[in-house]
Amino acid sequence: MSVLVVGATGATGRLLVEQLLDQGETVKAIVRSMNSLPEQLINHERLSIVEASLLEMTDGELEAHVQGCHAVASCLGHNLNFKGLFGHPRRLVTDSVKRLCKAIEKTHPATPVKFVLMNTSGNRNAKEGEKVSLKHKIVVGILRRLLPPHADNEEAAQFLQSHYANSKNVVEWAAVRPDSLIDEKSMTPYDVFVSPIRDPIFNPGKTSRVNVAGFIAKLIVDDDVWQKWAGQMPVIYNA
Ligand SMILES: NC(=O)c1ccc[n+]([C@@H]2O[C@H](COP(=O)([O-])OP(=O)(O)OC[C@H]3O[C@@H](n4cnc5c(N)ncnc54)[C@H](OP(=O)(O)O)[C@@H]3O)[C@@H](O)[C@H]2O)c1
Repeated sequence: MSVLVVGATGATGRLLVEQLLDQGETVKAIVRSMNSLPEQLINHERLSIVEASLLEMTDGELEAHVQGCHAVASCLGHNLNFKGLFGHPRRLVTDSVKRLCKAIEKTHPATPVKFVLMNTSGNRNAKEGEKVSLKHKIVVGILRRLLPPHADNEEAAQFLQSHYANSKNVVEWAAVRPDSLIDEKSMTPYDVFVSPIRDPIFNPGKTSRVNVAGFIAKLIVDDDVWQKWAGQMPVIYNA
Protein backbone atom coordinates (compact mmCIF):
# COMPACT_ATOMS: atom_id res chain seq x y z
CA MET A 1 0.00 0.00 0.00
CA SER A 2 1.19 3.48 -0.80
CA VAL A 3 0.42 6.32 1.61
CA LEU A 4 0.96 10.07 1.30
CA VAL A 5 1.55 11.85 4.61
CA VAL A 6 1.44 15.64 4.90
CA GLY A 7 2.60 17.28 8.12
CA ALA A 8 5.15 14.47 8.28
CA THR A 9 7.75 16.60 10.05
CA GLY A 10 5.34 17.33 12.91
CA ALA A 11 5.39 15.70 16.31
CA THR A 12 2.59 13.28 15.32
CA GLY A 13 3.28 13.11 11.58
CA ARG A 14 6.77 11.68 11.98
CA LEU A 15 5.45 8.99 14.35
CA LEU A 16 2.82 8.09 11.77
CA VAL A 17 5.43 7.79 9.02
CA GLU A 18 7.53 5.60 11.31
CA GLN A 19 4.60 3.32 12.16
CA LEU A 20 3.52 2.95 8.52
CA LEU A 21 7.07 2.05 7.48
CA ASP A 22 7.35 -0.42 10.37
CA GLN A 23 4.19 -2.09 9.07
CA GLY A 24 5.72 -2.52 5.62
CA GLU A 25 3.90 0.28 3.81
CA THR A 26 5.42 2.57 1.20
CA VAL A 27 5.22 6.20 2.25
CA LYS A 28 5.57 9.52 0.48
CA ALA A 29 5.98 12.67 2.55
CA ILE A 30 5.63 16.25 1.38
CA VAL A 31 7.72 18.37 3.75
CA ARG A 32 8.97 21.93 3.76
CA SER A 33 12.41 20.87 4.91
CA MET A 34 13.88 17.41 4.90
CA ASN A 35 16.17 18.47 7.77
CA SER A 36 13.16 18.42 10.11
CA LEU A 37 12.95 14.64 9.74
CA PRO A 38 15.01 12.19 11.82
CA GLU A 39 17.94 10.63 9.94
CA GLN A 40 16.63 7.06 10.14
CA LEU A 41 13.53 8.21 8.26
CA ILE A 42 15.42 10.23 5.64
CA ASN A 43 17.43 7.14 4.74
CA HIS A 44 14.52 4.68 4.75
CA GLU A 45 14.22 2.86 1.43
CA ARG A 46 10.39 2.84 1.45
CA LEU A 47 10.06 6.56 2.21
CA SER A 48 10.16 9.08 -0.62
CA ILE A 49 10.43 12.68 0.42
CA VAL A 50 9.21 15.63 -1.60
CA GLU A 51 10.65 18.93 -0.40
CA ALA A 52 8.06 21.60 -1.15
CA SER A 53 5.53 23.88 0.44
CA LEU A 54 2.24 22.04 -0.06
CA LEU A 55 0.04 25.05 -0.75
CA GLU A 56 2.53 26.48 -3.24
CA MET A 57 2.49 23.36 -5.41
CA THR A 58 0.60 23.48 -8.70
CA ASP A 59 -2.53 21.36 -9.21
CA GLY A 60 -0.54 19.18 -11.62
CA GLU A 61 2.22 18.58 -9.10
CA LEU A 62 -0.28 17.61 -6.42
CA GLU A 63 -2.07 15.25 -8.80
CA ALA A 64 1.23 13.56 -9.59
CA HIS A 65 1.90 13.08 -5.87
CA VAL A 66 -1.48 11.58 -5.01
CA GLN A 67 -1.53 9.39 -8.12
CA GLY A 68 -1.45 5.74 -7.07
CA CYS A 69 -1.78 6.49 -3.33
CA HIS A 70 -4.25 4.28 -1.48
CA ALA A 71 -4.45 6.66 1.44
CA VAL A 72 -3.58 10.24 2.35
CA ALA A 73 -3.09 11.36 5.95
CA SER A 74 -2.88 14.95 7.14
CA CYS A 75 -1.13 15.68 10.44
CA LEU A 76 -0.76 19.34 9.49
CA GLY A 77 -1.11 21.94 12.18
CA HIS A 78 -0.25 25.59 12.64
CA ASN A 79 3.13 26.07 14.28
CA LEU A 80 2.68 27.32 17.83
CA ASN A 81 4.36 30.68 17.35
CA PHE A 82 2.97 34.09 16.39
CA LYS A 83 3.47 33.58 12.66
CA GLY A 84 1.99 30.08 12.76
CA LEU A 85 -1.04 31.12 14.78
CA PHE A 86 -1.87 34.46 13.19
CA GLY A 87 0.06 34.67 9.91
CA HIS A 88 -0.67 33.14 6.55
CA PRO A 89 -1.80 30.61 5.47
CA ARG A 90 -4.73 31.07 7.86
CA ARG A 91 -6.49 28.05 6.34
CA LEU A 92 -3.46 25.80 6.07
CA VAL A 93 -5.33 22.61 6.94
CA THR A 94 -8.59 23.33 5.12
CA ASP A 95 -6.93 24.51 1.93
CA SER A 96 -4.53 21.55 1.96
CA VAL A 97 -7.37 19.08 2.48
CA LYS A 98 -9.43 20.69 -0.30
CA ARG A 99 -6.54 20.71 -2.75
CA LEU A 100 -5.47 17.15 -1.96
CA CYS A 101 -9.04 15.88 -2.35
CA LYS A 102 -9.44 17.73 -5.65
CA ALA A 103 -6.17 16.18 -6.82
CA ILE A 104 -7.37 12.70 -5.81
CA GLU A 105 -10.61 13.24 -7.75
CA LYS A 106 -8.65 14.29 -10.82
CA THR A 107 -6.69 11.00 -10.80
CA HIS A 108 -9.91 8.93 -11.01
CA PRO A 109 -8.69 6.18 -8.67
CA ALA A 110 -10.12 2.70 -9.34
CA THR A 111 -10.92 2.24 -5.65
CA PRO A 112 -11.74 4.98 -3.11
CA VAL A 113 -8.78 6.66 -1.46
CA LYS A 114 -8.81 6.83 2.33
CA PHE A 115 -8.28 10.33 3.67
CA VAL A 116 -7.44 10.60 7.37
CA LEU A 117 -7.44 14.05 8.90
CA MET A 118 -5.86 14.70 12.28
CA ASN A 119 -8.39 16.99 13.90
CA THR A 120 -9.27 17.93 17.48
CA SER A 121 -11.74 16.97 20.20
CA GLY A 122 -12.46 20.72 20.42
CA ASN A 123 -14.31 20.39 17.12
CA ARG A 124 -17.90 19.41 17.71
CA ASN A 125 -19.51 17.01 15.26
CA ALA A 126 -22.92 18.64 14.87
CA LYS A 127 -24.10 15.81 12.60
CA GLU A 128 -23.73 13.38 15.53
CA GLY A 129 -25.88 15.74 17.60
CA GLU A 130 -22.97 16.58 19.92
CA LYS A 131 -24.10 19.11 22.50
CA VAL A 132 -21.89 21.33 24.66
CA SER A 133 -22.51 23.55 27.66
CA LEU A 134 -23.19 27.27 27.29
CA LYS A 135 -19.79 28.17 28.83
CA HIS A 136 -18.08 25.82 26.34
CA LYS A 137 -19.97 27.46 23.48
CA ILE A 138 -18.86 30.92 24.62
CA VAL A 139 -15.17 29.93 24.93
CA VAL A 140 -15.15 28.16 21.54
CA GLY A 141 -16.93 31.13 19.95
CA ILE A 142 -14.12 33.37 21.22
CA LEU A 143 -11.40 30.91 20.11
CA ARG A 144 -12.99 30.68 16.67
CA ARG A 145 -12.77 34.45 16.27
CA LEU A 146 -9.36 34.98 17.85
CA LEU A 147 -7.44 31.86 16.89
CA PRO A 148 -7.42 31.08 13.15
CA PRO A 149 -6.13 27.49 13.72
CA HIS A 150 -9.29 26.50 15.57
CA ALA A 151 -11.58 27.68 12.78
CA ASP A 152 -9.22 26.00 10.31
CA ASN A 153 -9.56 22.63 12.05
CA GLU A 154 -13.35 23.01 12.11
CA GLU A 155 -13.59 23.93 8.44
CA ALA A 156 -11.29 21.12 7.30
CA ALA A 157 -13.47 18.46 8.93
CA GLN A 158 -16.62 20.19 7.73
CA PHE A 159 -15.33 20.11 4.15
CA LEU A 160 -14.81 16.34 4.26
CA GLN A 161 -18.14 15.78 5.97
CA SER A 162 -20.13 17.84 3.50
CA HIS A 163 -18.34 16.88 0.29
CA TYR A 164 -17.98 13.16 0.84
CA ALA A 165 -21.15 12.35 2.66
CA ASN A 166 -21.91 9.06 0.97
CA SER A 167 -19.85 5.96 0.33
CA LYS A 168 -19.89 6.26 -3.47
CA ASN A 169 -17.15 8.89 -3.55
CA VAL A 170 -13.57 8.49 -4.70
CA VAL A 171 -12.55 9.93 -1.34
CA GLU A 172 -13.56 8.20 1.89
CA TRP A 173 -12.57 9.98 5.07
CA ALA A 174 -12.22 9.89 8.82
CA ALA A 175 -11.30 12.82 11.08
CA VAL A 176 -9.41 11.61 14.14
CA ARG A 177 -10.00 13.82 17.18
CA PRO A 178 -7.40 13.57 19.96
CA ASP A 179 -7.89 15.38 23.27
CA SER A 180 -4.92 17.25 24.86
CA LEU A 181 -1.85 15.90 23.13
CA ILE A 182 1.07 14.57 25.17
CA ASP A 183 4.28 12.81 24.19
CA GLU A 184 5.02 9.25 25.25
CA LYS A 185 7.73 6.92 24.02
CA SER A 186 5.56 4.01 22.97
CA MET A 187 1.95 3.10 22.41
CA THR A 188 -0.27 2.41 25.42
CA PRO A 189 -3.89 1.20 25.55
CA TYR A 190 -6.34 3.76 24.20
CA ASP A 191 -10.08 4.10 23.73
CA VAL A 192 -11.93 5.44 20.72
CA PHE A 193 -15.43 6.93 20.87
CA VAL A 194 -17.89 8.32 18.33
CA SER A 195 -18.13 11.57 20.34
CA PRO A 196 -16.19 13.23 23.19
CA ILE A 197 -16.86 11.69 26.60
CA ARG A 198 -15.54 14.75 28.47
CA ASP A 199 -15.43 18.48 27.92
CA PRO A 200 -12.21 19.23 25.99
CA ILE A 201 -11.94 22.71 27.54
CA PHE A 202 -13.11 22.32 31.14
CA ASN A 203 -12.28 18.66 31.77
CA PRO A 204 -9.76 17.58 29.12
CA GLY A 205 -8.35 14.09 28.87
CA LYS A 206 -4.98 13.09 27.50
CA THR A 207 -4.04 11.51 24.20
CA SER A 208 -0.46 10.61 23.37
CA ARG A 209 0.71 11.46 19.89
CA VAL A 210 2.13 7.96 19.46
CA ASN A 211 -1.35 6.53 20.09
CA VAL A 212 -2.85 8.94 17.55
CA ALA A 213 -0.25 7.83 15.01
CA GLY A 214 -0.97 4.18 15.83
CA PHE A 215 -4.72 4.63 15.37
CA ILE A 216 -4.31 6.52 12.08
CA ALA A 217 -1.98 3.78 10.83
CA LYS A 218 -4.58 1.18 11.84
CA LEU A 219 -7.32 3.02 9.96
CA ILE A 220 -5.12 3.01 6.88
CA VAL A 221 -3.94 -0.61 6.93
CA ASP A 222 -6.87 -2.42 8.53
CA ASP A 223 -10.03 -2.40 6.39
CA ASP A 224 -12.24 -3.63 9.24
CA VAL A 225 -11.17 -0.69 11.39
CA TRP A 226 -11.70 1.61 8.40
CA GLN A 227 -15.21 0.29 7.76
CA LYS A 228 -16.06 1.00 11.39
CA TRP A 229 -14.90 4.63 11.32
CA ALA A 230 -15.19 5.82 7.69
CA GLY A 231 -17.27 9.01 7.44
CA GLN A 232 -16.92 9.63 11.18
CA MET A 233 -14.91 11.74 13.59
CA PRO A 234 -13.57 9.28 16.17
CA VAL A 235 -12.35 10.75 19.45
CA ILE A 236 -9.28 9.07 20.94
CA TYR A 237 -8.15 9.13 24.59
CA ASN A 238 -5.40 7.29 26.40
CA ALA A 239 -7.08 4.59 28.47
N1 LIG B 1 -1.92 20.52 20.95
C1 LIG B 1 -2.97 19.78 21.28
O1 LIG B 1 -3.20 19.44 22.45
C2 LIG B 1 -3.89 19.30 20.20
C3 LIG B 1 -4.98 18.55 20.57
C4 LIG B 1 -5.79 18.01 19.58
C5 LIG B 1 -5.49 18.25 18.25
N2 LIG B 1 -4.42 19.02 17.88
C6 LIG B 1 -4.17 19.20 16.42
O2 LIG B 1 -3.26 18.19 16.01
C7 LIG B 1 -2.61 18.59 14.81
C8 LIG B 1 -1.15 18.15 14.80
O3 LIG B 1 -0.52 18.34 16.05
P1 LIG B 1 1.08 18.14 16.22
O4 LIG B 1 1.41 18.60 17.60
O5 LIG B 1 1.50 16.79 15.76
O6 LIG B 1 1.59 19.22 15.14
P2 LIG B 1 3.03 19.90 14.93
O7 LIG B 1 4.11 19.14 15.62
O8 LIG B 1 2.91 21.34 15.24
O9 LIG B 1 3.23 19.70 13.35
C9 LIG B 1 2.64 20.54 12.43
C10 LIG B 1 3.01 20.10 11.02
O10 LIG B 1 2.40 21.02 10.09
C11 LIG B 1 3.41 21.55 9.24
N3 LIG B 1 3.14 22.94 8.87
C12 LIG B 1 2.95 24.00 9.68
N4 LIG B 1 2.76 25.12 8.96
C13 LIG B 1 2.87 24.76 7.65
C14 LIG B 1 2.78 25.46 6.41
N5 LIG B 1 2.52 26.77 6.38
N6 LIG B 1 2.93 24.77 5.26
C15 LIG B 1 3.18 23.43 5.29
N7 LIG B 1 3.27 22.70 6.41
C16 LIG B 1 3.12 23.36 7.59
C17 LIG B 1 4.69 21.49 10.04
O11 LIG B 1 5.77 21.54 9.14
P3 LIG B 1 7.19 22.22 9.51
O12 LIG B 1 7.93 21.16 10.29
O13 LIG B 1 7.78 22.53 8.20
O14 LIG B 1 6.88 23.44 10.35
C18 LIG B 1 4.51 20.13 10.74
O15 LIG B 1 4.85 19.10 9.86
C19 LIG B 1 -2.85 20.09 14.73
O16 LIG B 1 -3.82 20.33 13.69
C20 LIG B 1 -3.48 20.48 16.05
O17 LIG B 1 -4.42 21.51 15.89
C21 LIG B 1 -3.61 19.53 18.84
